[in-house]
Amino acid sequence: MVAAGCSLIPWIALSALLGSVVCEDPNQPLGSPVQLGESEPGVKKILEFTEERYNLGSNAMHRRKISRFISVTRQMLKGIRYTIKVEVSNTQCKKSSMVRSCDFYPESHKLETELCMFEVWDVTLQGNLTLLKQNCQPKVIARTEEFINVDIEFGNDTFEFMRLVLEFKHFLKKFNKVYSSREETERRVVIFYENLKTAETLQSLDQGSAEYGVTKFSDLTVEEFQTMYLNPLLNQWTLHSPMKPAAPAQRPAPDSWDWREHGAVSSVKNQGMCGSCWAFSVTGNIEGQWFLKNGKLLSLSEQELVDCDTVDQACRGGLPSNAYEAIEKLGGLETETDYTYTGHKQSCSFVNRKVAAYINSSVELSKDEKEIAAWLAENGPVSVALNAFAMQFYKKGVSHPLKIFCNPWMIDHAVLMVGYGESKGIPFWAIKNSWGEDYGEGGYYYLYRGSNACGINKMASSAVIH
Ligand SMILES: *[C@@H]1O[C@H](CO)[C@@H](O)[C@H](O)[C@H]1NC(C)=O
Ligand SMILES: *[C@@H]1O[C@H](CO)[C@@H](O)[C@H](O)[C@H]1NC(C)=O
Ligand SMILES: *[C@@H]1O[C@H](CO)[C@@H](O)[C@H](O)[C@H]1NC(C)=O
Repeated sequence: MVAAGCSLIPWIALSALLGSVVCEDPNQPLGSPVQLGESEPGVKKILEFTEERYNLGSNAMHRRKISRFISVTRQMLKGIRYTIKVEVSNTQCKKSSMVRSCDFYPESHKLETELCMFEVWDVTLQGNLTLLKQNCQPKVIARTEEFINVDIEFGNDTFEFMRLVLEFKHFLKKFNKVYSSREETERRVVIFYENLKTAETLQSLDQGSAEYGVTKFSDLTVEEFQTMYLNPLLNQWTLHSPMKPAAPAQRPAPDSWDWREHGAVSSVKNQGMCGSCWAFSVTGNIEGQWFLKNGKLLSLSEQELVDCDTVDQACRGGLPSNAYEAIEKLGGLETETDYTYTGHKQSCSFVNRKVAAYINSSVELSKDEKEIAAWLAENGPVSVALNAFAMQFYKKGVSHPLKIFCNPWMIDHAVLMVGYGESKGIPFWAIKNSWGEDYGEGGYYYLYRGSNACGINKMASSAVIH
C-alpha cells in the first residue's frame, strides 16, 4: 500500500515528483516504487513480455509495438510489481506473419498510438511474469464539450496523472521555467493540464495537418496569453480611418511564392511580453518594401513605434494603419541596432538623422485571398492580422482550426505574410510571427489558405515607398 495521505493526493505527490521536499515518510522506502531506466538489466525482458501479452490480447490485425518508453517502476509487495508506462503503435506486420522485427507505419495516422499503463507481476520472485492490469487509451482524445473549462478530476486515474506530471516536467526543463513558490507551481500545473486538453481538442478537430500540443505558452491561461502577447485593439479595425485601396496585381498569382527565398525577409524577432505585434507586422512589411525598392534588407526598429507612435498604445496594442501614418509623420524608421527593442514603453528618443528607411503612404489590400496572393507575389510581404487563439497551442504543420476556435471577427494578432503554397495538397499561407524562433516552425506559423481562416483576409495592408 502507498502511504495514506501521500501519493493519493495528486498535488502532494506532484511536488514530490517535481523535487520539492514533501511527504517524507522514513518507513516508506521498503515498499515504495523504484524507477528503472530503459536500459537497466531485466527491463528489456519485462517490456518484451508486456508487448507479447498485449498483442495476444488485442484484436488488432497488425502487430503493435512499444513506440515510446515513458517509465517502468519496480515495487516490492507480495511479489514484485512492475508498472510500465509506454506508448504502443501499429507496425506494418500482420500478426499472422510471425515476424517480430517489424517497422512502424511511416504515416502517423496509421499508427493509432495509445498511451498504455501495464502492471506486470512476478509473484514467485523467480522471474515468472504475469500481466495483471492493462489500461490503454488513444493518445488523442476528443473532448469537445469539455472545451476550456475542465476541472482536474483524476479520481483514481493515476495513469492520467502520471502522464501530466511527465509532460509538465519535460515542459519545465525544455523552456527553463521556474516558479516562485509551490502554490504558483500548483496553479501552473492546473493551467498546463487545461491547455493540454485544449490542444487535444484542437488537434482532434483540425482540418489541416497541424500539430498542437505543449508550447512555451502552455502554462498561461488563454486570458493571460491574450493580455501578454495579443492585441485586442486590432478588433477595432472597423473603426480606423479608411486607407487607400491598393492597385490590384497585374498578373495572376503564381502557384506558390516565398519572399524568404528572395531575400526580402529579416530573421524572426521576439516581441516579448508586450502586445506590440502591430509594430513587428509593420516593420516586417517595410523591410520588404525597402528591400524591393533599394535592394538592401534592413532590420528596422519596432521600439521607435512603441515609444513614438502616440496614436497607438505601445504594449497595449495598435493598428498597422495608424503605425504607417506615424512613420510618415516621424520621417521614417531607424534600424534595430540604432533604436533597440526593450519590450516596454520608454520616452521617444527618435532622431531624424538616423532614419534608415522612409515610407510615402500606405494601402489596404483586397479581402479576396486570391488577390492577396497575387499582390504579395508581385509586391512583397504583407502586413496581416488574424484571430490567434489556435496559435498558443501550435507546434507545426498547416493549421486549419474550426471556426468556433478562430472567429474571423475577433482579430487579435498582427503578423507578416511572407508567402504561400501547398503542402501535401493543403494550401497554406506562410506567416512570420514575432514570438521568437522557438515558436512554431522556426518562428513561423502556417495557416490554411482559401477559406478566410481566422480572418486572415480582413486586414491586409502595406506601406508604399516611392
Ligand atoms: C517459474 O520459472 C522457473 C524458471 O524460470 C520455472 O522453473 C518454474 O517452473 C516457473 N514456475 C511457474 C509456476 O511457472
Ligand atoms: C476510487 O477508489 C476508491 C477507494 O479506493 C473507491 O471507493 C472508488 O469507488 C473508486 N472510484 C472509481 C471511479 O473507481
Ligand atoms: C517619399 O518620402 C520621402 C521621405 O519623406 C521624400 O523625400 C520623397 O520625396 C517622397 N517621394 C515622393 C514621390 O513623394
